[in-house]
Amino acid sequence: MALSEEIIERVEKLQEKYDVTGQDLSAYLDGLLYADYISYWNYIHLDTLLSLQNPRTSFPDEEIFIMYHQITELYFKLSLHEIKQIGEHESLNSEFFLRRIMRINRYFEALTKSFEVMYKGMDRDQFLKFRMSLIPASGFQSAQYRKIEICATPFINLVHADQREQFVNDQENLPEMFNYLYWKRGATEEETGKKTLTLRQFEAKYTDELLKLAGNYKDTNIWMRYKSLTEEEQADSKVIKALRQLDSYVNVEWPLMHLKSAITYLKRRPVDAKATGGTNWQQYLPPQFQRRIFFPELWSQEEKDNWGKNFVESILNSNGEDNE
Ligand code: HEM
Repeated sequence: MALSEEIIERVEKLQEKYDVTGQDLSAYLDGLLYADYISYWNYIHLDTLLSLQNPRTSFPDEEIFIMYHQITELYFKLSLHEIKQIGEHESLNSEFFLRRIMRINRYFEALTKSFEVMYKGMDRDQFLKFRMSLIPASGFQSAQYRKIEICATPFINLVHADQREQFVNDQENLPEMFNYLYWKRGATEEETGKKTLTLRQFEAKYTDELLKLAGNYKDTNIWMRYKSLTEEEQADSKVIKALRQLDSYVNVEWPLMHLKSAITYLKRRPVDAKATGGTNWQQYLPPQFQRRIFFPELWSQEEKDNWGKNFVESILNSNGEDNE
């Protein structure tokens, strides 16, 4: 059977492509001839993916806990994937920027809405038992969560609010600021004031990598990229709305759903259960105490003063009835 025009044209294009690098097209065609068809399960590495759930106890609900963390980490990875494209774009415009921000918002919306898989979806008795086998591991040690923060905002905005002032004129000093990040304060043992093992382990593994990332994103984090748009583009209400939404999802709405899970499982009378990471979670986790804001210039003073206060009282006063 004679080859169609279309096929000949394609072969010629292939020839051109391989000529450029001095490669032999016929060898590549042999490769095509012998290669197996790709399958769904190979393409997404399904067997590997489904082999990654390895509970440490025999409580069935531990698998839910593991898998939901894995799902979350994949959404974090998607978010970082978008952030990287914003950071590296060579001729950024507001259309590209907005589309990527909206993607991240969709990921965090999915995470926020699905968090009931955690706070409603596990048997509390099982949770309180299997969590004891996980000490001192904690979601606190999620490096991707920290990376999203670092790539979203100037580093100084992640310094604990009490310490921020001293760095206003010293924002290049990333290693020093790193010592005062808000989350370091959160991971100190209540009684002794010492760094928790959870934090020490995390620092040993990730400090260098996170500092390097902070350096790389100093001028290309989401905020700086927004500021690199034209004044007209920056003033676009759709862009501002999307950035405010992002700030709200990452720093209020997701944390509130997460806090709700902590309350559901750990807040019990007469005394609350200790966090696996050893933090004073009641003082640390509420967004109104953390006051983590990526884009402070986009919020009014009143909005900043009331950061995270919506819903928080009702969540803090609840006692896990969602899980009954
Ligand atoms: C029943 C479900 C959950 C409970 C009870 C819970 C509890 C806690 C507690 C008490 C902390 C404070 C640190 C510590 O001492 O351990 C924490 C931190 C954290 N957890 Fe969870 N968690 C749950 C689910 C998740 C999930 C599904 C993720 C997803 C990755 C996650 C990610 C995080 C992160 C990122 C932090 C640090 C938050 C921050 O620094 O503001 N947690 N969690």
